[in-house]
Amino acid sequence: MANILVTGGAGYIGSHTCLELLEAGHDVVVLDNLSNSSEESLKRVQELTGKSLKFIQGDIRDPHDLDQAFATHKIDAVIHFAGLKAVGESQKIPLSYFDHNIAGSIQLTQAMERAGVFNLVFSSSATVYDEANISPLDETMPTGMPSNNYGYTKLIVEQLLQKLAIADPRWSIALLRYFNPVGAHKSGRIGEDPQGIPNNLMPYVTQVAVGRREKLSIYGDDYDTIDGTGVRDYIHVVDLANAHLCALNNRLNAKGCRAWNIGTGNGCSVLEVKNTFEKVNGVAVAYEIAPRRSGDVATSFANNARAVTELGWTAKYTLEDMLADSWNWQKQNPTGYQS
Ligand code: NAD
Ligand code: UD1
Repeated sequence: MANILVTGGAGYIGSHTCLELLEAGHDVVVLDNLSNSSEESLKRVQELTGKSLKFIQGDIRDPHDLDQAFATHKIDAVIHFAGLKAVGESQKIPLSYFDHNIAGSIQLTQAMERAGVFNLVFSSSATVYDEANISPLDETMPTGMPSNNYGYTKLIVEQLLQKLAIADPRWSIALLRYFNPVGAHKSGRIGEDPQGIPNNLMPYVTQVAVGRREKLSIYGDDYDTIDGTGVRDYIHVVDLANAHLCALNNRLNAKGCRAWNIGTGNGCSVLEVKNTFEKVNGVAVAYEIAPRRSGDVATSFANNARAVTELGWTAKYTLEDMLADSWNWQKQNPTGYQS
C-alpha cells in the first residue's frame, strides 16, 4: 500500500478517487485550496469509508505548501487534479488558467523532484485531441489546438510532462484523458457541486429536474448524429476514480510518460441522455432546442482498448447507472454541499 498525495482531492473527481484509494487500503493526503470545493466532501469520504485522511489547505502554486506536504508525509506518488476547469471562464481570464493549471503543475513537479517523488498521475482531457480526428478516438491520433484556453492548458501540461519524462528517466507519469465524467457515489453523499450556472450537461439536467433551473437548452439538433444532437462518451465518476488506481499500479512499476483514454467507448446523444434520465428516474426534464454552442464538436467518444489491456481497467457502470446516481446525489443534496 502506498501513501498518495492528491492535489484537488476535495473536488468532484478527487473526492471520489480519495474514497476508492482509502477503500483499497492506501493512505491519502489531500492538498486543496478549496477554491471550487468544500471540506465537507472529505468529511463525507471519511464517514463513508470509516477511514481517515490528512487534509492540507494549500495551493499547488505555493512551493512552501508543497514542500511542507512532502516533508510531513512520506509520499510515494501524486495524483494531480488541482486546477481550474470552466471552459467559458478560461476565455475571460486566461492568465488565471495559465497560472493555476500550467504554472501550478510546474511548481508541483519541481516540489516532487526536490522530495524525490517521481510517480505522477495527471488529469488530462479528451479535449487535447485534434477536432479533425474521427471517433472512436485512440491515443495514437494527433493532438490539436483546443478551441479554448482551458483545453490549451491541458495540452501544454501533457507536453511538458512528456518532455520531462524523456529528459529525466526517474519519472513515471500517467496522462489520463477523461471523456465526460458524470454520476456520483451510490450513497448519494458525494457528487458534483458546480458553483453558479452549470456549463456541463449532466449538472444542468439534474438542476432542471430538481427545480433549480427552468429548462435545459439543447445546443443544436442539426449535427450529423443519430438524432441531430451532440454525441459524447459519458463515464461514471466511480469508474473514472478506479482508473486512477489502475494507473498508479501501472506507474509504480514502470518508467516514462504514457497517455490513456478513460471513457466507456459508447457515444450517447444529448436527447438520449435526457430521455434515459427521465425514464430511469421518473422525472421530467423541460427542454428547448437552442443554437449550437461555439467550440462544440458533433461526436466524441473513446477507443478505450489501451486502458483495458495495459491498465486492466474496465468501465462497469451503464448510462442508466450514471443517470440514477447523478439524480440520487442531486435529490439528497438539492443545493450541493450547502444543503
Ligand atoms: P473540481 O473543480 O471539482 O476539482 C478541482 C479541485 O482543485 C477543487 O477542489 C479546487 O478547489 C482545487 N484547486 C483549484 N486550483 C487549485 C490550486 N491552485 N491549488 C490547490 N487546489 C486547487 O474539478 P473536477 O471536475 O473534480 O476536475 C478535476 C480535474 O480533472 C481537473 O484538473 C479538471 O480539469 C480535470 N478534468 C475534469 C473533467 C470534468 O468534466 N469534470 C474533464 C476532464 C478533465
Ligand atoms: C466540455 C468542454 C471540455 C471539457 C468538458 C468537461 C467545451 C467545448 N468542451 O466538454 O473542454 O473538458 O466539458 O468539463 O465546452 N449540452 C447541451 N446543453 C447544456 C450543456 C451541454 O446541449 O446545457 C451539450 C453539448 O452541446 C454537448 C454535450 O451536451 O453536446 C456535452 O456537453 P458538456 O457536458 O459541456 O461537455 P463537452 O462539451 O463534451
